[in-house]
Amino acid sequence: MSSSPITLEELSKHATKESCWIVVHGKTYDVTDFLDEHPGGSKIILRYAGKDATEAYSEVHPPNIVTEHLTPAQQLGPITLPASTSSSSLAAAPAPPAELSPEQLDRLVLLSRRPPIDNILSLHDFEAVATEMLSRSAYAYYASAADDEITMRENHLAYARVFFRPRILIDVSTVDFSTTILGQPSSLPIYITATALGKLGHPDGELNLTRGAGKHGVIQMIPTLASCSFDEMIDAALEGQTQFLQLYVNKDREKTKSIVQHAEKRGIKGLFITVDAPQLGRREKDMRQKFDDTTDGSAVQTKGGDKVEKNQGAARAISSFIDPGLSWKDLDFFKSITNMPIVLKGVQCWEDAVLAAEAGVAGVVLSNHGGRQLDGSRSGLEVLVEVVRELKARKLFPNPKFEIYIDGGVRRATDVIKAVALGATAVGIGRPFIYAYSSYGQEGVEHACQILKDEFTMNMRLIGARTIKEIVPAMVDASALSHHSASVPSDRLFEANYASLEPTRLRAKL
Ligand code: LAC
Repeated sequence: MSSSPITLEELSKHATKESCWIVVHGKTYDVTDFLDEHPGGSKIILRYAGKDATEAYSEVHPPNIVTEHLTPAQQLGPITLPASTSSSSLAAAPAPPAELSPEQLDRLVLLSRRPPIDNILSLHDFEAVATEMLSRSAYAYYASAADDEITMRENHLAYARVFFRPRILIDVSTVDFSTTILGQPSSLPIYITATALGKLGHPDGELNLTRGAGKHGVIQMIPTLASCSFDEMIDAALEGQTQFLQLYVNKDREKTKSIVQHAEKRGIKGLFITVDAPQLGRREKDMRQKFDDTTDGSAVQTKGGDKVEKNQGAARAISSFIDPGLSWKDLDFFKSITNMPIVLKGVQCWEDAVLAAEAGVAGVVLSNHGGRQLDGSRSGLEVLVEVVRELKARKLFPNPKFEIYIDGGVRRATDVIKAVALGATAVGIGRPFIYAYSSYGQEGVEHACQILKDEFTMNMRLIGARTIKEIVPAMVDASALSHHSASVPSDRLFEANYASLEPTRLRAKL
């Protein structure tokens, strides 16, 4: 490690594949030997060779990951800045500190054009606003799903194939939709499920979720691949606020062990192990965006032999550490390293739900990863019906020690009520919360929770249920749920927000 601070001039001399230095958060790193190991490929790093990479880095990485991957000798120490240059403006020509970058200016203009938050009447509205506010690459990453996106659309449409059988003349002057999830109090039978790369949508990233959820007594599931660091999200929580952790299992089990044990020490109340992603799905919106980003003619300082695959998209770029060898045998390892309740996230048939219950885990999330993994998977709602039926037949359900959750496609409290009626303890909501904070920050998250609460109050009254326990299977008709050809009313709001996949096209004339 060099003892004196690095100068800008020195930094700019290391701008090639042969000697590549970058600055992140005011510190200089020699990443030459790391180029080929970078999960996102070397090309993206080389764009910032000899420059400040803080802005691009922060969008997709938690603050401390750079030091975890580099040896002390590769950590060269602080950079000396000229008085008028802020660390995040190094990449461009030195600018007066008060001057905003074109991206910041664009965002300010967009912020001023947003409808007042009171005009946001449903979770669909957040999506409509966010679609116009997000950068193209952020939108592509968040909105994308696997292959033809059939499962992603089915997740939502499945709810339209279930109808209510409400009860009347029940005194519903007061209704209470609070519940418990893994024994933890929750103001609603929902939780904010894990979604990656929060800073693509808003500079505070996932902290918007932590803070908004805390105000509303909603549980946040912290993602492994967050843009904010795990400890930042814990530190931002209120006293007593419940958080869960979603875990991608690293090939290096020692790393996994230290993540899990650190989480338990910091008060995490449930470990949700993702089991549907031995390899990340092909998301073509995201991949096409990535392709466009790397064909823009920008001066990428490579000298042949660069290995980045243009077609991989953000998701694949950040996920190469995930262990495709994960198996049922690993459950004993997890039980041996933690006392947190363990839940398997991504179960898609009753056979695996039965195995999970028999293996003694605390629950399953019936999920297809928001349609981002295996296209053609069924919705969590449909799987729920068969899982409950088969667990009941084996006397494994109801069982206070084994809960069932679902996620995917939820936009309304009525969706959640349908899931609860069919046996779910709670429902995970992902993208709608990203869209809420991408457009309105923490206030958006709070408003989304309030919308759900208002919808809950009204709809529980209308079906005649005063408590979550009173939402029972007889209150829904799910007979059409597994008839994939059943006609449903077209969903105008969902369809208006849904962006079709685009085929590739001839390029504009040169
Ligand atoms: C995704 C991963 C990272 O679906 O969860 O993009």
